[in-house]
Amino acid sequence: MKILVTGGAGFIGSHIVDRYIELGHDVIVVDNLATGSKANVNPNARFFPLDVRSPEFAALIRSEKPDVINHHAAQTLVRISTEQPVFDADVNVLGIINLLQAAAEADVRKVIFASSGGTVYGVQDKLPITEDTPFAPQSPYGISKTASEFYLRYYAANWGVAYTALRYANIFGPRDTVSSEHVITVFATQMIRGETPTIHWDGEQAKDYLYVGDVVNANVQALTKGDNEAYNLGAGQPISVNTIFKLIRDILDVDVEPRFGPKRMGDVRLFYLDSRKAQRELDWRPQAPFLDALTETVHWYRDHLFRK
Ligand SMILES: NC(=O)c1ccc[n+]([C@@H]2O[C@H](COP(=O)([O-])OP(=O)(O)OC[C@H]3O[C@@H](n4cnc5c(N)ncnc54)[C@H](O)[C@@H]3O)[C@@H](O)[C@H]2O)c1
Repeated sequence: MKILVTGGAGFIGSHIVDRYIELGHDVIVVDNLATGSKANVNPNARFFPLDVRSPEFAALIRSEKPDVINHHAAQTLVRISTEQPVFDADVNVLGIINLLQAAAEADVRKVIFASSGGTVYGVQDKLPITEDTPFAPQSPYGISKTASEFYLRYYAANWGVAYTALRYANIFGPRDTVSSEHVITVFATQMIRGETPTIHWDGEQAKDYLYVGDVVNANVQALTKGDNEAYNLGAGQPISVNTIFKLIRDILDVDVEPRFGPKRMGDVRLFYLDSRKAQRELDWRPQAPFLDALTETVHWYRDHLFRK
């Protein structure tokens, strides 16, 4: 298959590109390197350093006519979306409209979209969260992901471009960058550097963490399954910030106590996703045991952090 992956120089997108290439697909990567890195781009992919909002990107879709577009490029931070909501909507909403309009004109069969299970549902009392839970985003980022899913529905219904929206939990693994502000990445890099991590709130808040290898598996399944559906993807096992701190400390065998800071705006006590729909319809289930995946990830940071 010919597959165009946006955000293929970033954390999750680059792992997806690697697997698609391993499987023998013809892969095109589009990424403006806003947070991604050229070093992450698989040398067997064709790389175009374009912005997903640009006419050049739309022209590339029309000339290459990929079978599938996998859309991972985005402004990914809730914090930036609250500080710069216009920028967030510009990248995340206008980007996907530009993509979908060109996809419709180029007869692209399907778009796979990286949505966000952590933000499109807002804060819910009833856990775990299923796909039937109504959208209730509470940040511009959550709103831009929700709006994107409605644009996917519009282009599927009116232009025949199929889609699968994958609503991710908190993804971790090698190649995530500290700028993502993800707790596993931040704690691991700080402990490796000999710094003291700060735990906001009391550390007993717990979320659903999913290994990037499991996300890649879902993006493979979605190439041929799950048309015009949205799926939660999580491990379904909430893990507290205190537990993550202790596990990373054990893996690195360092002697450090956390500093505690105030609760941050938007911090949630408990969040985890019900992914049984993906198990049934995508034949997907989380496979990586958390401790093994965490150990591999922390070792990757240890081996790569100080390498130039
Ligand atoms: N990491 C998570 O826990 C998580 C959770 C839910 C959803 N997601 C979504 O998954 C996708 C990938 O996230 P990630 O964690 O790999 O982040 P990332 O920052 O590593 O990847 C995003 C990529 O998009 C590129 N990009 C940004 N703006 C662009 C633009 N205007 N044009 C072209 N490229 C652009 C960046 O350079 C980067 O390579 C995003 O859509 C994100 O919203 C991630």
